[in-house]
Amino acid sequence: MRRHGGDIRHRLAEKKRKSELMLDKAKSLVQPSARSAVPPFMVMDVMAAAARLEAQGRRIIHMEVGQPAAGAPAAAIAAANAALSGGALGYTETLGMASLRRRIARAYGEWHRLDIDPQRIVVTTGSSAGFMLAFLAAFEPGDRVATALPGYPPYRHILSALGCEPVGIESTAQTRWSMTGEMLVAEHRARPLKGVVVASPANPTGTMMSATALAELIRCAEDAGITVISDEIYHGLDYAFPAESAARLSADAIIINSFSKYFCMTGWRIGWMIVPPHLVRAVERLQQNLAISVPTLSQIAAEAAFDDRGELEEIKRGYQESRRLLLERLPRAGLESFLPADGAFYLYADVSRFSADSFAFAGQMLQEAGVAVTPGIDFDPLRGKNFVRLCYAGSRQEVEEAIERIGAWLTG
Ligand SMILES: Cc1ncc(COP(=O)(O)O)c(C=O)c1O
Repeated sequence: MRRHGGDIRHRLAEKKRKSELMLDKAKSLVQPSARSAVPPFMVMDVMAAAARLEAQGRRIIHMEVGQPAAGAPAAAIAAANAALSGGALGYTETLGMASLRRRIARAYGEWHRLDIDPQRIVVTTGSSAGFMLAFLAAFEPGDRVATALPGYPPYRHILSALGCEPVGIESTAQTRWSMTGEMLVAEHRARPLKGVVVASPANPTGTMMSATALAELIRCAEDAGITVISDEIYHGLDYAFPAESAARLSADAIIINSFSKYFCMTGWRIGWMIVPPHLVRAVERLQQNLAISVPTLSQIAAEAAFDDRGELEEIKRGYQESRRLLLERLPRAGLESFLPADGAFYLYADVSRFSADSFAFAGQMLQEAGVAVTPGIDFDPLRGKNFVRLCYAGSRQEVEEAIERIGAWLTG
């Protein structure tokens, strides 16, 4: 009996070895493509490190991820609840529910006194999908597309994955940390560009471009035949002066926006684009094939979110107060140099006084002060070693505690 049992075990072990071999072979057949070799989005790594400390019982203050602590507005939740019990949530039209597209168009009348044809509005799975659609619809593989440095890393990484060439243009204090028309044209003369991505307010800096500066950049770009893609995801979160929309300045610019930030709906994965009329059908064909349509529940909730401006403005006032506290107290705590924090919910702080390696600095701050921030190298591979990004979209109490912890850590 024992020998029989041994035979079975031997045969099982042999079978397992063979299936592992087959698995290994299968693994080697499926190799990651070269285009998938984009750098990681480092903020997610910081988040994972913070979660490991939390699992050990530490209390961490999260200032690394750029998302509102508040959830979707009450009207959005109520509409979603009603929809869930109201029957099947089937696909919608690829470009989005007609009522939502009309509501978004109406918002441009309210925010910017602009009359936008709802036919030009495309509902997307967050602004992230908007970039993919815009880049695919407007650019060919090999096209060079300018983005500002520091800047939101996925612009560069999505472009690379799609076979385009991202071209970083370094902004400086002389141009108030924004890309200018002059810089763009200089790069274009050196080697032609096909597109440019602009963002105001920007991530990671929170810095905004004046209406005049944005108009000048768009004029230079379009005179040179460069397509403008304007990421307006932080619109609504402007404190220094009102944010200008590229939609007021050009009918050819592609506008990208989202319900993630002002509307506090990150996890609902819903955003929108305004597309020049001659690109609408191309974007529609792409989205038909890539996604069919955007989650219906999120579209219903997003439409209702427009009715809760009071709640959203209250949240914005909270950010404003946190920003004021940080700008006033962080210098006393030892962090005194920031880029202009005009909007969004970020401070981009120069830490070169303390370290020449913002990655190590952020790691140490997490370990020793229990405050998670994002190293600047995520946003600017070279100069980012001198900066960290702090997100102040958490509660005021957390922001106050973060200031105290950072102060005690830097001066203690
Ligand atoms: C500048 C900027 N654009 C786009 C996004 C993507 O946001 P979503 O896909 O949630 O709309 C983010 C997210 O942080 C961002 O900071």
